[in-house]
Amino acid sequence: MSGDVARARRLLADAERIVVLTGAGVSAESGVPTFRGAGGLWKSHRPEDLATPEAFARDPRLVWEWYASRRSSLAGCEPNDAHRSLALLAFSHDATTLVTQNVDGLHHRAADAVAPEGADPAVAYPLEVHGALHRDRCSLCDRRTQGRTDVDATSEAGIPRCDACSGLLRPDVVWFGEALDAATLGAAFQAAHEAAVCLVVGTSAVVYPAASVPELTLRAGGAVIEVNPEATTLTPYAAVSLRGMAGTLVPQIVPAGVGRVR
Ligand code: OAD
Repeated sequence: MSGDVARARRLLADAERIVVLTGAGVSAESGVPTFRGAGGLWKSHRPEDLATPEAFARDPRLVWEWYASRRSSLAGCEPNDAHRSLALLAFSHDATTLVTQNVDGLHHRAADAVAPEGADPAVAYPLEVHGALHRDRCSLCDRRTQGRTDVDATSEAGIPRCDACSGLLRPDVVWFGEALDAATLGAAFQAAHEAAVCLVVGTSAVVYPAASVPELTLRAGGAVIEVNPEATTLTPYAAVSLRGMAGTLVPQIVPAGVGRVR
């Protein structure tokens, strides 16, 4: 075991409160594309055409076509050992808060899969600061519903509508230019402020306000552990920076990791 892995394990084992911030990289080994870097979604798609309220107002069919295709690709993806280990950490260590920028629902599915008998899986559900692709939201009345899997976005007539007010439904994700849910973000910031350790997994840590989570822990005197194959802007501030894949490293460092070496 490397010295850095041992140091990260010790920091997590000793921490009274832990906050975990994940990004697209935690799901990369599940086959979900990241946003930046080679092969990232924002290399082949323009966010302003697909992920803004203006884009939806201009061409809801085009926006739905993209999100429906992401939703159907996700149906074939499974949580990996990093998602499972983080869920086990939340079940075994009460004062753990998971915060994710991901909309893929894989942390939820991992929590459902590894919940100990009699435990409430919701204990290990993350705060989803950028929303969830598996939910729809009415663009008029804001009502949230289970995401439809049968969206036919080949014509405007196939775009789903709200059962309550007939408004156009949209995926319940946060678009560029939109505010994050204040209660969700507030809970994430509170957890970050109180945490002795912030474990940051698979994020470029450049999108605010989510990128404030590790900064708040640092400012309150806590430590940051980073897991990422590449250096990020956070790396110079991390107590331990582990270079590698989330699915390999996270199980090695979290106290309850899947198949962890004891
Ligand atoms: P990015 O695509 O910006 O960053 C993904 C990070 O994951 C990079 O730093 C990679 O080096 C790292 N990575 C890749 N494979 C990995 C692996 N197997 N294990 C660990 N790390 C790995 O994605 P995010 O930081 O999540 O927002 O992006 C933040 C936000 O920007 C997203 O939530 C999205 C996007 O615009 C919205 O859509 C609102």
